[in-house]
Amino acid sequence: MKQFQNTTALVTGASRGLGVNISLTLAEQGCNIIAVSRNEEGLQSTCKKITSKGVSATYYPIDLSNTVSVREGIEKILSENQSIDFLINNAGIENYQKFHHYDPNTIDAILATNLRAPMEIARLLLPNMLNRGGHIVNIASLAGKKGISYNSIYSASKAGLIMWSDALRQELSNTKVGVSVICPGYISDSGMFADAGIDAPKLLGTSPPQKVANAVVKSIIGNVPEIIVNNGPIKPLLSIGQLSPKLSDKIVKFFGVPALNLARVKLENTDKPGR
Ligand SMILES: NC(=O)c1ccc[n+]([C@@H]2O[C@H](COP(=O)([O-])OP(=O)(O)OC[C@H]3O[C@@H](n4cnc5c(N)ncnc54)[C@H](OP(=O)(O)O)[C@@H]3O)[C@@H](O)[C@H]2O)c1
Repeated sequence: MKQFQNTTALVTGASRGLGVNISLTLAEQGCNIIAVSRNEEGLQSTCKKITSKGVSATYYPIDLSNTVSVREGIEKILSENQSIDFLINNAGIENYQKFHHYDPNTIDAILATNLRAPMEIARLLLPNMLNRGGHIVNIASLAGKKGISYNSIYSASKAGLIMWSDALRQELSNTKVGVSVICPGYISDSGMFADAGIDAPKLLGTSPPQKVANAVVKSIIGNVPEIIVNNGPIKPLLSIGQLSPKLSDKIVKFFGVPALNLARVKLENTDKPGR
């Protein structure tokens, strides 16, 4: 069991959305925070909230879609900070499109931000973590457990994150470093789904962002391999998906997920081109 007093967590995607909840919840446990994302104003605002909890907060603006920036940024963080106990790979982007309409640059950006960056940051932090002990938490999605039409690149990136977490956890099982993956469904109030301003399918519902932050803490304390954060029980559907993908396609369609996503393609192409 790991404790948080006088520890330090590097949280990516800490400028807005779920990363703020995660950072503040860790701070409430006594954890100092190193906040990473691109938007300096957002990072400053998060750090101000964190320091009001009585722990320290520093921020580093890094573009995680750029491999060179990731390496240089993390090397700077390592040279300026004594130790990092926890890595929370939370930053992520999505883009709703028909697959053949994807711009290759968008595909690269999603894969680099959601999958390549978490791997690279962990690769750079692990040598120190292996000596001192630590924990890596990857924020994936239920979209990585069952393919999501019209958001297929995001789905692929999150499936990759889940499988990489699974493999790395086994690889590090005899070390002092734990690995967890969190798979949220639709999250209300803040974050990318709430920002879209669309209602979740009634049968699936939403969960509050605090549940994701609590799952991060729980995963570290209990060294839990995977936590699903969803409004209702979803594991039976995921199990059906393993036994019969066609049946689970029908259930997902009945829930209204493809219809919702098609609406988001329209939204993406009118309100938020090339996000
Ligand atoms: N919200 C949901 O319903 C939901 C459901 C399932 C999974 N998730 C996952 O939860 C995580 C957090 O999502 P969210 O809902 O909080 O999304 P969000 O509100 O859109 O926030 C995304 C965060 O990632 C950062 N980010 C994006 N691109 C970046 C880049 N190139 N370099 C550095 N930072 C970057 C953003 O900061 P800057 O723009 O300042 O760089 C921001 O802090 C993501 O991995 C997402 O896939 C969310």
